[in-house]
Amino acid sequence: MQGIQYMKISDFVWLMMAIFLQFSCRKDMPVDALAQIPYSPEKVEIRGPEGFPQMPVPPENPTTVEGIELGRRLFYDPILSADFTMSCASCHLPKGNFTDNLAVSDGIDGISGRRSSMSLLNIGFADQGLFWDGRAATLEDQALLPVEDTIELHNTWPEVVARLQEHKDYPLLFRKAFGINHAGEITKELAARAIAQFERSLVSSGNSKFDRFFRGEVELNDEEYLGYVLFFDLDADIPDAECGHCHNAPLFTVNDYFNNGIENVADLNSFPDRGRGEVTGDQFHNGQFRAPTLRNITLSAPYMHDGRFASLDEVLNHYNDGGGDQVVINKDPLIRKLRLDEVQKEALISFLNTLTDTSFIQDPRYQDPFE
Ligand code: HEC
Ligand code: HEC
Repeated sequence: MQGIQYMKISDFVWLMMAIFLQFSCRKDMPVDALAQIPYSPEKVEIRGPEGFPQMPVPPENPTTVEGIELGRRLFYDPILSADFTMSCASCHLPKGNFTDNLAVSDGIDGISGRRSSMSLLNIGFADQGLFWDGRAATLEDQALLPVEDTIELHNTWPEVVARLQEHKDYPLLFRKAFGINHAGEITKELAARAIAQFERSLVSSGNSKFDRFFRGEVELNDEEYLGYVLFFDLDADIPDAECGHCHNAPLFTVNDYFNNGIENVADLNSFPDRGRGEVTGDQFHNGQFRAPTLRNITLSAPYMHDGRFASLDEVLNHYNDGGGDQVVINKDPLIRKLRLDEVQKEALISFLNTLTDTSFIQDPRYQDPFE
């Protein structure tokens, strides 16, 4: 300190400039710090249990340990919603097989959407469009939508990106997952990629009774076995339940769009929700919806795109009646009176119970990282 008194004026000016520079650069200091942290993401290949197809993964977003971890945080973080009250997980909870067990979901403003939340189990295998109507092509595209949806998280991406850039943890997590050099490189696209990676990791454990039966490890009891035979139309002497055509193993969905007869309308233009037709513009697609997976179906009541059926009994009664008297020309021909008796309906429900995989919903890798 003493030295200053004897400093030449010019030296003093230099010193002040150095201090000033030091302070003005402070904002950028973590920049270098971030860039110095090693970036070496560990690739993961996600596989379903035996019999599952290979999961399609976009080459520009390979799945990594670090990407999944970041995606999990974003999925559970209410920072995504305008008022910090809701996250993706508010409507996609592990205990509901990643649904909210509501007929239709409410967003942050308490306004109800028009459709029921969908399970995210095995979502990485859905290769023919996402949502009930298929309007999003990829998980990366889909993940951008809820943030700005006015009846979901009702926020804006510039706001979310700013929050993430200023956050104490996220810049480091984005560095580890995507190699960003400074917080300013966090974008909505990278956030969506991380969420998509987490979603791809949500695969069946292979521990359901059906999977163990499929591998020859356990037998089904008589009732479950009868349900299995009915579901896949395996015995010419008893009625076919036809389920397997649209909900085929191993995913228990063929990922295609059908009118399964739940709407009693007079013509193709009278569906209250046009579903697939809203996306394709083809009126023959009106009232068609994507057949969802039936894995863990016991955990995700209520059922259908508008949650109209509270129980599997109601679902079975619907299919057994062949969708009532609906006459519109796009009702699928497999939806017709099945003539199943009570024992056969119960057997089908027992079989659906064998698709329950509690080790999936309890897997610690999928739980809320903030708890
Ligand atoms: C307010 C409730 C709500 C919130 C919050 C929400 N979702 Fe959803 N999610 C839904 C509903 C409802 C659907 C079905 C909508 C439709 O088909 O029109 C859906 C569908 C999906 C699907 C399609 C699944 C399939 O089988 O096609 C994915 C993937 C998804 N949500 C992921 C997310 C992610 C990621 C977030 C957070 C960024 C999120 N959701 C936030 C309610 C919500
Ligand atoms: C023609 C194809 C088709 C056939 C056959 C079919 N389903 Fe479906 N299933 C669908 C479609 C499409 C949906 C979604 C419809 C909607 O929400 O509007 C669906 C929905 C369901 C749901 C509700 C899923 C959820 O997450 O809400 C259950 C349960 C179900 N089907 C069980 C069965 C059973 C059991 C059978 C056999 C008795 C069967 N399905 C036969 C196409 C079919």
